[in-house]
Amino acid sequence: MTEQQLLDLFHQMTLEEKIGQLVQLDGGCFGTDAMAVGPREKLGVTEETVRNCGSVLNVLGAEKVHEIQDHFLAENRLKIPLLFMADVIYGYQTVFPIPLGLGSTWNPKLIREDYKLIAEEACSDGDMVTFSPPADLIRDARWGRCLEMPGEDPVLISHFSKAMVEGFQNTWEKGKSVASCLKHFAGYGAPEAGREYNTVDMSKRRFLQDFLPGYKSAVDAGCELVMTSFNTVDEIPATANKWLMDDILRKEWGFNGVIITDYAAISELKAHGVAADDAEAAKLAINATVDIDMKTSCYANNLADLVARHEIDEAQIDAACYRILTLKNKLGLFEDPYYGCSVEKRDSVICSPEKISAARKTANRSMVLLKNDDILPLKRNKQKIALIGPYADSLDIVGMWAVHADHKHSITIKQAMENVLDNEYFTFTKGCDFLDDYSSLGEFGFIPTIANGKFTPEQSVIEHENALTLAKEADVVVLAMGEHMLQSGESGSRTDITLPEPQKQLLHEIKALGKKIVLVLFNGRPLALTDIIEDCDAVLEAWFPGTAGGLSICDCLFGDYNPSGRLTVSFPYHVGQEPLYYSQFATGRPANGSTHSGRFVSRYLDCPNEALFPFGYGLSYHKAEYSNLTLSQTKISKSADDSIQVSITVTNTSGTSGTETVQLYLRDLVGSVVRPILELKDFKQIYLGAHETQKVTFTITEEMLRFYTKDYTYQSEPGNFKVFVGPNSAELLEADFSLTI
Ligand code: NOJ
Repeated sequence: MTEQQLLDLFHQMTLEEKIGQLVQLDGGCFGTDAMAVGPREKLGVTEETVRNCGSVLNVLGAEKVHEIQDHFLAENRLKIPLLFMADVIYGYQTVFPIPLGLGSTWNPKLIREDYKLIAEEACSDGDMVTFSPPADLIRDARWGRCLEMPGEDPVLISHFSKAMVEGFQNTWEKGKSVASCLKHFAGYGAPEAGREYNTVDMSKRRFLQDFLPGYKSAVDAGCELVMTSFNTVDEIPATANKWLMDDILRKEWGFNGVIITDYAAISELKAHGVAADDAEAAKLAINATVDIDMKTSCYANNLADLVARHEIDEAQIDAACYRILTLKNKLGLFEDPYYGCSVEKRDSVICSPEKISAARKTANRSMVLLKNDDILPLKRNKQKIALIGPYADSLDIVGMWAVHADHKHSITIKQAMENVLDNEYFTFTKGCDFLDDYSSLGEFGFIPTIANGKFTPEQSVIEHENALTLAKEADVVVLAMGEHMLQSGESGSRTDITLPEPQKQLLHEIKALGKKIVLVLFNGRPLALTDIIEDCDAVLEAWFPGTAGGLSICDCLFGDYNPSGRLTVSFPYHVGQEPLYYSQFATGRPANGSTHSGRFVSRYLDCPNEALFPFGYGLSYHKAEYSNLTLSQTKISKSADDSIQVSITVTNTSGTSGTETVQLYLRDLVGSVVRPILELKDFKQIYLGAHETQKVTFTITEEMLRFYTKDYTYQSEPGNFKVFVGPNSAELLEADFSLTI
């Protein structure tokens, strides 16, 4: 409809109808059966609110969307369609790797294309808005939601959040795009001590400098919605934080779209202790320009009274409502309230060969080879391989957020290996349970996921014996092990971030047989691998690789794909190092290079400061040498057209071709505030043929040297800098340059 028609519609709306647009309910409120009474009553909203409601949470399926929308429109006075919003985070029915794995590709362009495919699948089945991308910077491996984010670095996360928004919204190509909702704004990735939903408290400068860029990049890419985070920002919950939502997001960044809360976050303002009751909570949120109340009755039951009491202005509700109507109109819902979804369309696009092969291509690129003592790639039908471990034949390798995964198209490692190995070269058993005790997984643990059933004591004994027998007979043991799928993801915080006990024990026992071990790891966070790494001859970090995960693992293990993934998070020696990230600030007593000696420097008595596997790290089957770091000039001025060309020679010294991710870091040696010891500024991926040499060139501009200075202005400061280039944050060549006035 035209803007004028939309305005005409808006002017016909009553206050109650406008407030209805600001309310999001779940599917239970729209069913026609008795079930519907439950959620509605529990939530405390009236039938009138349901009739005026603006959007639906997490209902997908073309049939259901048609049914609910038809029923709703029949009852709704002005025929304003519902907006269907859902969590489609890293795949709909075809599941791609978890975002930690997507980040490990260091290939945002590839990920943008993948997200176009995800959007097409999701919208064919009724999705109109997706709650993605999550762009929360992660620096603490204890936090379970590390799984959902591309990594610990602001530059990297900015590239990915932009790519994901562009992929989802896909230039609004009809039937191939969904509106993207950036989340969780802001700082959600830094809960104290890594404990889910805990307080976030950090310096304003760090917040602006490190945590906001990932979100800003998604806003600049045009995301249509933003979700508030559960946490506090400067001691004010984000959902009530006017500075964050209105001053920064809307006024400074120019965001005109819809702000929605996270699940029940308005009502949680009471538990936070900043609102005495629902009315006060609703007032705080609407004053912060929050448009949609997800799953509480705070807006529905209080906004009209607040207007009547002149505690808020009706214009605030008008503005929020009009933003939501504008989004509905942009999606064309007034013309097609189903957004083109249909059973036929879904059946023709879901899990198509094109999508499965894209998922495989990306899963290949997401895997990070952490260790390889000349054992990989494995030789097909020349070595006897025993595949052992709870993930060996599990479809749970899609990860916790893949709630819509179509398991019919998933392939386990066992199935994939059976396809490429003759029987006499391949044996398999699970060997052990994921965990000794599943009760800590909480109520989620009772969902009958495919592989989390615990062995009986008798089965445990048999499996254990089988594992040792098969291991003895094998030349190489491939162990498919890791965190239980529900140990990471939302509410998956852990203080023990090592391999779960029963798996660790089995690994040690197999090593004691003198066997070669290749560990394929599944996890949604960096793990502390110190107590098992020596026992492994090779470790392939597979994350949760998705629908094509089994195939991709085979591709990497047998060398059909030369692993190219690089870590975007630091793997610690020990959980006690957390939060651990490569771009630490300089301290007055650095462990290396301090004028103080011995004990009195910034270090642990019992653990290195550094990561076991650093940011940017990953091995391949080829070998690359970096040499000859050259600068076109060693001075740069503040003039916009001045720059330094930094070049480096990368030589593949092996007979295997492969992909290198060349990384550029900077260090500002003296600033008006303390600066990080290393900051990633750029990266380039090159494909090197066997024995090939390539020169890679980066450009340093003055803009790259800017930061929030002492008085919070974002600018560069003249002085000396170091530039570093190399294959990861711990193996770098360096050179000096300066910025002149
Ligand atoms: C809570 C989660 O924090 C958020 O990521 C998700 O989008 C909403 N629930 C809706 O399911």
